[in-house]
Amino acid sequence: MRKILIIGIGAGNPDYVTVQAINALNQVDVFFIPDKGTDKVELGRLRKDICERFIEGSDYRLVPVPIPERAAAGTSYRGSVDEWHARLAHDYEGLFTQELGEGECGAFLVWGDPTLYDSTLRIIEHIRAKGFALEYDVIPGISSVQALAAQHRVALNRIGEPVLITTGRKLAEGFPNNLDSVVVMLDGDQAFKRVAGEDLDIYWGAYLGTEDEILVAGKLSEVMGDIERIRREARDEKGWIMDTYLLRRRDED
Ligand SMILES: C[S@@+](CC[C@H](N)C(=O)[O-])C[C@H]1O[C@@H](n2cnc3c(N)ncnc32)[C@H](O)[C@@H]1O
Repeated sequence: MRKILIIGIGAGNPDYVTVQAINALNQVDVFFIPDKGTDKVELGRLRKDICERFIEGSDYRLVPVPIPERAAAGTSYRGSVDEWHARLAHDYEGLFTQELGEGECGAFLVWGDPTLYDSTLRIIEHIRAKGFALEYDVIPGISSVQALAAQHRVALNRIGEPVLITTGRKLAEGFPNNLDSVVVMLDGDQAFKRVAGEDLDIYWGAYLGTEDEILVAGKLSEVMGDIERIRREARDEKGWIMDTYLLRRRDED
């Protein structure tokens, strides 16, 4: 039976690749490399560098996977994501049939950790649910959330308290009343501005783990202007940005 490994490669620094991931990389016949267009060429290059650095020998194949644009969300965000997953599942199934022999092992190198805001696992489950025979395993990776906390040398949770991991879209609805620690990912609109009236600290990081890493921390109302400017300048210069931040209420500890 065909096998797929969904391998977390960490969120930017090749040193984040774990021993378990290196062992998995060395079993793979075919790497499926997502290609989202030209703007994140560097991320594709990092995946290739990881293969060259950690795989002994070169008897593996790299197969580019064109990733279609997701349609604008319209009235239903969930609906547009489901429709996009179904298209990807259809495309992946075709690629597996063409590019992966029976008994061969394919892999996706997933940025950060495959279980956090990533579609690969859901798409593979979708393909299997349609009856395509496939085994699969997930190898965890160091997510941008862990990289953010480590680089700022801050614990994600207060003692005995929960931490919420959410998106910029959700944060824009307001900072949750019953929580004091919230990690925000996938925020193209700097939703922290919407909660600037709350008494919060922000621990912000962009390009975490890479040589372009930028860190800013401080009282949200005091540093958010700097973050907006730094973010805009960095994105204009590189053509893309990935940033994550922790927001924490200031009135405890
Ligand atoms: C599609 S999600 C993928 C998350 C990934 N699976 C993980 O474990 O970090 C992409 C979001 O992750 C965050 N992210 C990923 N890598 C990052 C990095 N190196 N620096 C800052 N944020 C990052 C950003 O919030 C970005 O919008």
